[in-house]
Amino acid sequence: MNIAIIGATGLVGGMFLKILEERNFKIDKLFLFASEKSDGKEIIFKNKKYIVKKLEYDIFEKNKINLALFSAGKEISKKFAILAAKNNCVVIDNSSAWRMNDKVPLVVPEVNPEDLKNHKNIIANPNCSTIQLVVAIKKIHDVFKIKRIVISTYQAVSGAGIFGINDLKNDDNKKFKYSIVNNCLPQIDNFDLETKYTLEELKLINETKKILHAPEINITATAVRVPVINSHGESINLELRRDFDIKEIFDILRNTPGVAIQDDIKNEIYPLAKNASGKDLVFVGRIRRDFSIKSGLNFWIVADNIRKGAATNAVQIAERLI
Ligand SMILES: NC(=O)c1ccc[n+]([C@@H]2O[C@H](COP(=O)([O-])OP(=O)(O)OC[C@H]3O[C@@H](n4cnc5c(N)ncnc54)[C@H](OP(=O)(O)O)[C@@H]3O)[C@@H](O)[C@H]2O)c1
Repeated sequence: MNIAIIGATGLVGGMFLKILEERNFKIDKLFLFASEKSDGKEIIFKNKKYIVKKLEYDIFEKNKINLALFSAGKEISKKFAILAAKNNCVVIDNSSAWRMNDKVPLVVPEVNPEDLKNHKNIIANPNCSTIQLVVAIKKIHDVFKIKRIVISTYQAVSGAGIFGINDLKNDDNKKFKYSIVNNCLPQIDNFDLETKYTLEELKLINETKKILHAPEINITATAVRVPVINSHGESINLELRRDFDIKEIFDILRNTPGVAIQDDIKNEIYPLAKNASGKDLVFVGRIRRDFSIKSGLNFWIVADNIRKGAATNAVQIAERLI
């Protein structure tokens, strides 16, 4: 299989390469593309040197590329994914360009792999904060049916790419509006002035409904950037349609693919960003009843946003396709 990585010099692009190598993904030819700035840059993959090329409109016509992993932002995906698809190349896109398109499956392999079967050469990878949420709630929804979700995110600066990390490391505010050092920013992506939500919050709401095929779930979200390098945390509050025993929730989560429970309050053990980084699982802890409503449940989840939140999920999709 011939593979192209679009945005190969970025955080997600670099992680694509790492995950492809870790999982020993079968590659015949590998093509690496980025912006003009990176043209000629060398990248080592499996002990072999590759040269990054400037992304051009004719790359899919000129080269027989079977699979393209896109992580170069929304505008690039909008323009180039169509060209790839027309040239029989399957696109797995990490941006938000195609996620809510009715004809494009939005897939988390542990949650809705069946949606892959109708793809038309473009498949969307969900937003990082959505992926870890749906992995954690999928089986609970199957058993109890979720009525309402309240999500508050604590998102790492790596979610904003290399420039996000630089802002925290250098106490700069080139990427973010305000300094992220000693600060929490209740803004991720731009504001939708009509709803007063940020686009990140709307992504969480709309993508979750699409992936679970559950437009009836009431969802609200607040997304916050925190001064953490990597791995997003999320406080999740669920209202279920049927009452539950907390032991049942533990049993369901124990049997949910992609989830690891870290919940031992006697020993003060719960999911932490530092422990989740470098791993592919969604860690769930602080699992407890919400006593303020009849069938309420609270928990805390953490996952590596560059791995499961982006690159790992995309490579898992590619593995399913094969
Ligand atoms: N970080 C996350 O947690 C995360 C999670 C899920 C999805 N995503 C999505 O993945 C995408 C990339 O994110 P990232 O975090 O990897 O960002 P990043 O570290 O800033 O990397 C951006 C990449 O896009 C390339 N690029 C920019 N403009 C380009 C152009 N005109 N033509 C070709 N390539 C261009 C860059 O190439 P140069 O180095 O040459 O500029 C770089 O390789 C975004 O759409 C983002 O929303 C990110």
